[in-house]
Amino acid sequence: AQEQATISTNLQDAKTTINRNIYGMFSEHLGNGIYGGFWVDKNAKVPKVGRIRMDVVNALKKIDIPNLRWPGGCFADEYHWMDGIGDPAKRPKMVNTNWGGVTEDNSFGTNEFMELCKLLNTEPYVSGNLGSGTVKEMSNWVEYMNFDGVSPMTKLRKEDGRDKPYDVRFFAIGNESWGCGGNMTPEYYSDLFRQYATFTKSYKGAPLRRIASGANADDYHWTDVCMRDIPLNLMWGLSLHYYTIPTGNWGKKGSATNFTEAEYFNTMKNCLKMEELVTKHAAVMDKYDPQKKVALVVDEWGVWTDPIPGTNPSFLRQQNSMRDALIAATTLNIFNNHADRVRMANLAQTVNVLQSLVLTKGDDMLLTPTYYVFNMYKVHQDAKLLPLKISVPEYKNGDESIPAVNASASVDSLGRVHITLVNLDANNDITVSADLEGENHSSISGQILDSKNLTDVNSFSNKNLVITKKFDGAKMKQHTVTVTLPKHSVVCLEIK
Ligand code: AHR
Repeated sequence: AQEQATISTNLQDAKTTINRNIYGMFSEHLGNGIYGGFWVDKNAKVPKVGRIRMDVVNALKKIDIPNLRWPGGCFADEYHWMDGIGDPAKRPKMVNTNWGGVTEDNSFGTNEFMELCKLLNTEPYVSGNLGSGTVKEMSNWVEYMNFDGVSPMTKLRKEDGRDKPYDVRFFAIGNESWGCGGNMTPEYYSDLFRQYATFTKSYKGAPLRRIASGANADDYHWTDVCMRDIPLNLMWGLSLHYYTIPTGNWGKKGSATNFTEAEYFNTMKNCLKMEELVTKHAAVMDKYDPQKKVALVVDEWGVWTDPIPGTNPSFLRQQNSMRDALIAATTLNIFNNHADRVRMANLAQTVNVLQSLVLTKGDDMLLTPTYYVFNMYKVHQDAKLLPLKISVPEYKNGDESIPAVNASASVDSLGRVHITLVNLDANNDITVSADLEGENHSSISGQILDSKNLTDVNSFSNKNLVITKKFDGAKMKQHTVTVTLPKHSVVCLEIK
């Protein structure tokens, strides 16, 4: 059966920029995210720069990652940055208490991270240790990374072989301070933020964009207190963490590859919760900051399933299916549509951990369906948002229903319009008629990501089952585009 959806937009309404940093990534010292993912053994038979794995880097470079958040996550609040500089042979080892109690040898530290960012052509986003560190330690870290004058930390950096400062702009003061980052109250955290922020300085060439540790999912009280108690000029952004748990139950999250349509429906319902979260947190922020100076930074998001059976459960390794591509595409549409407040986001966690873009196995690697979504959506980066009026059919399951189609659109600096459309319906194709009011264009082209089954994945024996293909299904008559979206698919249209 074919159902109908309508969209309309007016190019005159393109005002808000979709900050490219919405397309950011997160990579923690967790499982094989850094070690075995980006950072490999000296003897690994893969192309490398030092110990950085270039097959992975080159794949990620193609999708234009704007920023990379590091070193955690929960790990950030037990990480002591000075253990990760200087002669690698002399760096102390520590235990990674959050993620399996494995030994962290500190071979990947600040300078290695900066080298990785340079190779990825991405901006570093560093997460400071508020939970178990000190004001001095955090202040010194910023000085080490960003100061160019005469100082003890500049001297240290130069001794480590780096003459010029790194000009890091994005810097978080704690992570999940309501939980693994210290189990704090928002009042206590806000006071600490004020103190730490005071001593993390902006140096020449690197005005520091301090990001406060924000709410867990729908904890609006946390957002309210932080916005009330933290002087807004100290805080560039306030974060929000929300994961899509397929079952909604943290104890038994659900399989990444083996799920029914009812489970799929539930997963997408949980994914769409992001719309409500972003709307309501933004409304709280509006109360204190009507001019929207403080960014909402969703610096951890993605689907979190049960780990692959047989793998270390603390390593959070999971497969990535066509369903996960729909989660990524839907969430990015939500972020684009809230670009006035959401100015940064970070998918958890890039390589081998949670909703990854790349999976590695020894010297081998593959690109996940989520990777292809980011590749399609990169056209929105720094383009102007086209607000949409949208009317769509419902996708029903039992007594429940969700909107079957979601979309976002933008116009770039060359005048090209991009519309990204997602059909969540597991059974029905949906025809969308999109009216680009007042503008006539002469050409349309597209790409599609779909696959026969929602459970389809790219595996090491079949790496290209779910990949983007050219899509010729869209037609344009004057300013109206008509396109039939196959069931459970993602389509990106370019209109010139
Ligand atoms: O991404 C995995 C973990 O999830 C992060 O370390 C933590 O911040 C969150 O709870």
